[in-house]
Amino acid sequence: MSDVQGLDNLSPGLLDELRALEQQFEVTPAKLKQISHQFEEELKDGLAKDGTNISMNVTWVLGFPTGDERGSFLTMDLGGTNLRVCWTTLKGQDAETEVIQEKYFLPTELKTGSADALWDFITNSLAEFIRSQRLGGTREEPLPLGFTFSYPAIQEYIDHGKLQTWTKGFDIDGMEGEDVASQLREAMDKRDLPVKLVALINDTVGAMIASAYNDRETIVGAIFGTGCNAAYMDHVGSIGKLKTDLPPDTPMAINCEYGAFDNARKVLPLTKYDEAIDRDSPRPGEQAFEKMSAGLYLGEIFRLILCDLQERGLIFKGQDVSKLREPYLLDTGFLSSMEDDPFAATRSNFEETLNIQITWEELQLSHRLAEVIAERGARLCTCGISAICRMKSITSGHVAADGSVANKHPKFKARWAQAMGEVLRWPEDRKDDPIIITSAEDGSGVGAAVIAAMTLERIEKGDT
Ligand code: GLC
Repeated sequence: MSDVQGLDNLSPGLLDELRALEQQFEVTPAKLKQISHQFEEELKDGLAKDGTNISMNVTWVLGFPTGDERGSFLTMDLGGTNLRVCWTTLKGQDAETEVIQEKYFLPTELKTGSADALWDFITNSLAEFIRSQRLGGTREEPLPLGFTFSYPAIQEYIDHGKLQTWTKGFDIDGMEGEDVASQLREAMDKRDLPVKLVALINDTVGAMIASAYNDRETIVGAIFGTGCNAAYMDHVGSIGKLKTDLPPDTPMAINCEYGAFDNARKVLPLTKYDEAIDRDSPRPGEQAFEKMSAGLYLGEIFRLILCDLQERGLIFKGQDVSKLREPYLLDTGFLSSMEDDPFAATRSNFEETLNIQITWEELQLSHRLAEVIAERGARLCTCGISAICRMKSITSGHVAADGSVANKHPKFKARWAQAMGEVLRWPEDRKDDPIIITSAEDGSGVGAAVIAAMTLERIEKGDT
């Protein structure tokens, strides 16, 4: 029987095509270092001034939690597929946090619809959750809410956030340039919900704080999922663009928003498939880095390559390829399962999802392509984190990672660790890696609650 992992079934013509693709998708150690250094420049630029590629947003999360934060909080997370609402009870780091949750399916059309429709959906779901869980709450004693809003937002204070631009395929009118926190407040008031928005939180910050609640070694919260971004803890004194009375040594969590790295396209090794994704996206020119590395796009890159090869008569001869023509039909799960179980899974995936009977040759080619695309993504994902570590002279600690690629892709973490060693030049014969990728705790359930607790504590103490 043929070895699906080898390339022995490939005709010379297809093998040449594959070799050319491998070359275009390769990120050599030298290239990694070059990208990571450019990354560091852009991170520093983002701290110094407004209007740069990477916006380095201040979040008003002023330090890591003590682990002693307690209380019950509503949390809500607007993701790409669901709105997740939780009632989270923190009992201090030594006791288990209780999270009661409900997920409300977000109809796809809402992602490109109107702001009113989105807020109606959100407040309806919130009302339904409060009612079904009998949470009470009154006008005088409203339920405190931490809202995870995982899009770039400029925050002048913690319960404020002006949406800079939609990312990850969202495109809702009437929200860019607006304060989403006050839109939410208005929508909740209209429905008379007994809820007080305490904090607006990016998912990366939630992941970092949730993880730090139990793990003091946490240095970064990172999302390798539909989007790609990270947060870390800096000091007010390092944020040149920030005008504040806070002392310079005050810690401040920064949401990097580094999916926008290299929007000027100076160093990223873009292929024609990356260009096509960008061109056909709702925001061409934006999120250059994210479009090469995040889960929303990996399956699409794979699909575009297959379409290209098919159009040139190299694969799927005589097959119905109408499904293959559907943009964004293949998600990262499709690639993951190929690497998990290259034979059975790939064959049935092609049949079920694409209605294509795949040959041995095409099977081997597809498997290798899935590897090449995911490997490039994982290697690129080290560039932002290594740049943060160099910029802040961090030499050890835990990168708390969440997101579908980090959690579900079978080889992501190993590839990431390998590339991290290359870019930070760790010795080959090291016993352990000094900076390791860990699985983040629940950022939008626990993290948002911890941030809400920290915020209320600050308000009680009279700090703002
Ligand atoms: C996109 C968003 C960012 C988020 C990331 C991961 O990059 O702009 O806010 O953190 O996706 O979800």
